[in-house]
Amino acid sequence: MAGATLEMLRQVPLFAPLGAARLADVDAMAQRRRFRRGEVLFHRGDPGSMLYVLLGGRVRIYSPSEDGSEMVLAILGPGEFFGELSLLDGLPRSASAQAIEECDALVIGRDEFHRFLRQHPGASIAVLGVLSRRLRRTDELLEDAAFLDVPGRLAKRLLELMDSNGEPVDGGTLIRLRLTHAELAAMVGATRESITKAMKRFARAGLLEAHGHFVVVRSPEGLRRRVS
Ligand code: CMP
Repeated sequence: MAGATLEMLRQVPLFAPLGAARLADVDAMAQRRRFRRGEVLFHRGDPGSMLYVLLGGRVRIYSPSEDGSEMVLAILGPGEFFGELSLLDGLPRSASAQAIEECDALVIGRDEFHRFLRQHPGASIAVLGVLSRRLRRTDELLEDAAFLDVPGRLAKRLLELMDSNGEPVDGGTLIRLRLTHAELAAMVGATRESITKAMKRFARAGLLEAHGHFVVVRSPEGLRRRVS
């Protein structure tokens, strides 16, 4: 196995319980794939036969609706995996996946994934840990939908995106993701119009600045106050 691949596999929490020798097993069972920005890896409802482990780039997990709108469930980055549900329960894909940047991934087939989990209980526990966190996150989103208004949900999501994708710039933090109002609406379960209104209000209050489709957070404290 190439040194660079070994180094990448070490960074993936799913494979962290394995020693260097065992990482060679992973390399042997996986295929390396690249995906272009904008490429849809699979659609909700497709039969699922592969697990994806991201080595580089970001993928958007979303549920499309009949009228063409979407609900964004997660944005996953390097070291994270997806596509495990269909491999574990045998049902069709629960959501769609699209590369929002050029992506480098490992792709693992169902039989290999099952064998891998049986052989490495530590990795099975790591998978359960990730599923547990995702369930907690889903509970939190349900709670937010019930208890926060649209500006509150938007402020909370911008703070999370700032933590996961922020880069310090003059007088604030740039969120390094292209965020259209439609995209933000899909992330917080709101209409595009209500997001436009809330973004304008936040900008007028000096909490953030919009630069095209990019957002610079100027006052995280101000956004935090908006969440309660
Ligand atoms: P699968 O159902 O095979 O295909 C869609 C994948 O999206 C699913 O497996 C999970 O890996 C991933 N996924 C679905 N819902 C969420 C969520 N709420 N958070 C993160 N990932 C998810």
